[in-house]
Amino acid sequence: MSTCIVMGSQWGDEGKGKVVDLLARGAQVVVRFQGGANAGHTIWHGTRKVVLHQLPSGVLTPGCLNLVGNGSVVDPERMLEELEELRAVGVEPTPDSLGLSSLAHVVTPIHKRVDGIAGGRIGTTGRGIGFAYADKARRVGIRLEAVLDGSLHDAFRQQLETHRPWLEEHDPGAVDELLRRIELFTRALDQLRPFVRDIRPELQGALQAGHNVLYEGAQGALLDLDHGTYPFVTSSSTAIGGALTGTGVWAAFDHRIAVVKAYTTRVGNGPFPTELHGPIGEDLRARGREYGATTGRPRRCGWLDLHLLRHATRASGYNGIALTKLDCLSGLPEISVATGRGTDGQPVYRTLPGWDEDILGAPSVDSLPANARAYVDFIAQQLGVPVTILSTGPDRDQTLVLEAPW
Ligand code: IMP
Repeated sequence: MSTCIVMGSQWGDEGKGKVVDLLARGAQVVVRFQGGANAGHTIWHGTRKVVLHQLPSGVLTPGCLNLVGNGSVVDPERMLEELEELRAVGVEPTPDSLGLSSLAHVVTPIHKRVDGIAGGRIGTTGRGIGFAYADKARRVGIRLEAVLDGSLHDAFRQQLETHRPWLEEHDPGAVDELLRRIELFTRALDQLRPFVRDIRPELQGALQAGHNVLYEGAQGALLDLDHGTYPFVTSSSTAIGGALTGTGVWAAFDHRIAVVKAYTTRVGNGPFPTELHGPIGEDLRARGREYGATTGRPRRCGWLDLHLLRHATRASGYNGIALTKLDCLSGLPEISVATGRGTDGQPVYRTLPGWDEDILGAPSVDSLPANARAYVDFIAQQLGVPVTILSTGPDRDQTLVLEAPW
């Protein structure tokens, strides 16, 4: 019985969905603590694929309690779509299996509208995330609890007033359009009412009872609002601290798993020191099918960067690595890894020999080619963190669990 947190260690898209899908099957509680519809986790229900954006990945596990903490931002219209998608595969979440924190903030149509125009500089997902968190910080946000006390209409109008001058300048006509959307928006929110409550006692109870509790991180360490590549970051705390402020319940995390992709990708703008612009980068994109799950955008690709991973390890105290997409490197004659920075601030690389063998779905670590094993060992040794899960293909059974949290 233990508490496990799974976090992205790079710029998101490390393959967290597969790891949390695997672990959610043995969890009694799965909790999300930050982010919102900007995330995209692919999980499987039998042979059917389900892409979850806001709902915790335990929604497909019978008997599992799924909680969305106060650090998340909830887009009600999109959440209803996700619930609909679950119904289509025969899963009907009830208040017994799903709880949304009454303290979580709501992404309103205003946030999405503004992000659609102003988010371009950062290359956001356009889901209104940054503006929902900004309104939370400047104390004009709407919390889910508004659906319980009937203050929704007024709160929406007040929020719109604070955005009016900017909208009138940059998006004439938007204010009237948004006013016309109030009804649709409040109706959507109202449908979530049965799930809205103070989730803290339940989470605390599960932790005290020693249940298997899985904290499901979204995005990655380098997109953390404080510790990431600011301003090219998301607007929440993706490192471990976010799990405490984003739930309001103290927990000791027995297993702190970093999901590390065997190379690096990034969507959106911002620095990427090990980015490959030429044919090798394009080759990596093709091998790894590197296109965004949420927006479909092609991802920028480059070599693994241990310098940045050390920074992420310091922030979150990883004690296990889930290494993903190792199979995508098969056939490369050489693989470079940034081990640090030179005096000019540029990455210093170490080049390791590649392997030719196809390792898709390898049955054991011992069956891997020596050079693949050496690559895995090199990462673990450089970070001082063992590889506890190794993914060698997109399917669920193409995963080697070397040390399971439960
Ligand atoms: P936002 O979270 O939509 O505000 O976008 C801010 C930055 O985070 C952009 O560079 C996005 O591409 C990136 N981002 C947000 N969510 C994800 C994710 O789930 N995977 C990868 N990148 C993300």
